[in-house]
Amino acid sequence: MSTVADQTRPAREEPWTGPLLDVRNLHVEFRTRDGVVRAVNGVNYSVAAGETLAVLGESGSGKSVTAQAIMGILDMPPAAIPEGEILYRGRDMLKMSKEERRKIRGQKIAMIFQDALSSLNPVLPVGFQLGEMYRAHRGSNRKEAKAKAIELMDRVRIPAARERVGDYPHQFSGGMRQRIMIAMALALEPDLIIADEPTTALDVTVQAQVMDLLAELQAEYHMGLILITHDLGVVADVADKIAVMYAGRIVETAPVHDLYARPAHPYTRGLLDSIPRLDQKGQELYAIKGLPPNLLRIPPGCAFNPRCPRAQEICRHEVPPLAQVTEDDGTPVAGRGSACFFWKETLHDG
Ligand SMILES: Nc1ncnc2c1ncn2[C@@H]1O[C@H](COP(=O)(O)OP(=O)(O)OP(=O)(O)O)[C@@H](O)[C@H]1O
Ligand code: SF4
Ligand SMILES: [Mg+2]
Repeated sequence: MSTVADQTRPAREEPWTGPLLDVRNLHVEFRTRDGVVRAVNGVNYSVAAGETLAVLGESGSGKSVTAQAIMGILDMPPAAIPEGEILYRGRDMLKMSKEERRKIRGQKIAMIFQDALSSLNPVLPVGFQLGEMYRAHRGSNRKEAKAKAIELMDRVRIPAARERVGDYPHQFSGGMRQRIMIAMALALEPDLIIADEPTTALDVTVQAQVMDLLAELQAEYHMGLILITHDLGVVADVADKIAVMYAGRIVETAPVHDLYARPAHPYTRGLLDSIPRLDQKGQELYAIKGLPPNLLRIPPGCAFNPRCPRAQEICRHEVPPLAQVTEDDGTPVAGRGSACFFWKETLHDG
């Protein structure tokens, strides 16, 4: 018997024109012996096909926990999701059965983690691990699976893929292993990839190569990509838009170039000022004063107030909503929002 919800849902064959993923007012908390850790406190973001969203923020701001909630890989308990929706093609994954969710995970939404070495099985050849995706999900036989593994290794530009398909993870360099992780994520042709600090463990030149490859494949397959990072420099060239997180909230959203040129939140300003610049060699690097908040006791009002150079009395009592950023004449700037009472001043003065 079909329900009202079923009837309002788009049929499977119909092309979906809305965002691939739409996270709405997501809250995640951890119930620990010390109290409730409020890791995610009302996150909203969305990603369309062919779009790259970078999620930026200091350590502990809730970037990974949000991603784990989307993937459905949080251990519950201790984690709980007291509020929010995670819409995949318009349907709330939090209301899906385990079976439905399992079909989306890995097949429709894939994740790349920071540490390839601990994500790959050290005792199995990489080609076997790639081929396993096809054996398990597509019913391929060994020969087909091996051919697919070589094709994928070629795709992510592993030199001499045919000869290396039998090699073990430790026989590859860090950059090559991260390419194998990208190949794993791509294997089942997902709609969306979430890459959580995919290049943090690599040195700078290799970082750029892996990031370029990821961006190129994302464009080629017209996938959505969520790039999680605490390094603004890494995502500048590849992201379309940025969501800045602080204490489990999105404090600023903007198209990538607008954010660099004119930040509308003092925290973003601080992050930009802490990037080392070639023309300022030798000068002392700016650092945002103080430490990220303890998520067991988030400061009342704006969570950033104890560290904010602009803080006023109101900031200590009221939580600033994510306001639409406008030009002086009141025209809304597309895709721009700031959770600061004084975004106008920040936008003007820097
Ligand atoms: N299982 C858990 N139990 C208790 N607290 C947790 C658990 N997992 C995560 N947290 C807390 O949730 C908060 C958000 O963590 P998260 O991993 O999302 O941060 P992040 O923004 O990804 O930081 P990083 O840049 O260091 O990866 C942190 O304070 C973390 O300690
Ligand atoms: S609301 Fe107040 S404390 Fe928060 S970022 Fe804006 S000025 Fe700073
Ligand atoms: Mg993280």
